[in-house]
Amino acid sequence: MNPASNVVDVWWAPLEGFDLPSQGTALALLDESEMSRYHAFRAHGARIQFLAGRALVRQCLSRYRALQPTDWRFCENAYGRPYIADACGVDGLFFNLSHTDGLVAFAIGSFREIGVDVERRDRQTGIEELSETVLASSEKTQLAGLAGAAYREAFLKYWMLKESYLKARGVGLSLPMSSVRFDLAGSPPAALFDPEIGDCADHWSFRLLTLTGEHIAAVAASAPGGSLTVRPIETSLVQA
Ligand SMILES: CC(C)(COP(=O)(O)OP(=O)(O)OC[C@H]1O[C@@H](n2cnc3c(N)ncnc32)[C@H](O)[C@@H]1OP(=O)(O)O)[C@@H](O)C(=O)NCCC(=O)NCCS
Repeated sequence: MNPASNVVDVWWAPLEGFDLPSQGTALALLDESEMSRYHAFRAHGARIQFLAGRALVRQCLSRYRALQPTDWRFCENAYGRPYIADACGVDGLFFNLSHTDGLVAFAIGSFREIGVDVERRDRQTGIEELSETVLASSEKTQLAGLAGAAYREAFLKYWMLKESYLKARGVGLSLPMSSVRFDLAGSPPAALFDPEIGDCADHWSFRLLTLTGEHIAAVAASAPGGSLTVRPIETSLVQA
């Protein structure tokens, strides 16, 4: 099965209840290289997010093709972006993964470039420092009258949209985020790219999603024309 040509499915799973038995089930899905990455994490939270993310990727991919979750193989580009290895014999299926405190999300579609970013709505870390370097001057002007939670939420929308684009491109943080600009006045958000991005915003569609009371997501896809449908689908990593 392929997602319809103008659709990105966003499978997401809360980490609440992802207990030891559920973690054991997830661990059994990982390949050797994922296992070594899992064991290399020092921080428990990051290790669990990695495990949950990779289990979600494997389980969800198997909903679209007749491969078992353990059968998927992945390669990475020079910036660490995982994609489905040719050895899987799968054409026309592209994905991206994001995790944050309490939730993992997996976006899939037939667009070559797909990016997803999830954040907690109440994220505090780094907002002031990031605002300076990440926002374009037009965006700073938009945020000028806001303070506290209102500022944080608006900033996060810009941040996540920019991240979703960079993740879709798979180029890490090698492009200047302040040159990828958004106008949040309308829905969906409108993008404008400065020349150094070397890309045309008309070739892209962006969406913002509310996943839970605490978590929001941004999705980018190389889908021109604004006809993109993004379907959020809740799933579970918790063993019944
Ligand atoms: C892409 C990136 C910005 C996302 O970071 P983040 O917001 O903290 O994390 P998220 O949870 O949203 O996404 C992480 C997931 O994105 C995917 N990912 C990793 N690198 C990616 C990239 N370059 N592009 C798109 N997705 C990427 C992975 O699936 C990763 O999860 P996993 O490691 O558990 O598989 C960050 O991983 C990054 O900067 N990578 C680039 C590093 C780089 O430039 N290296 C250059 C080496 S030459």
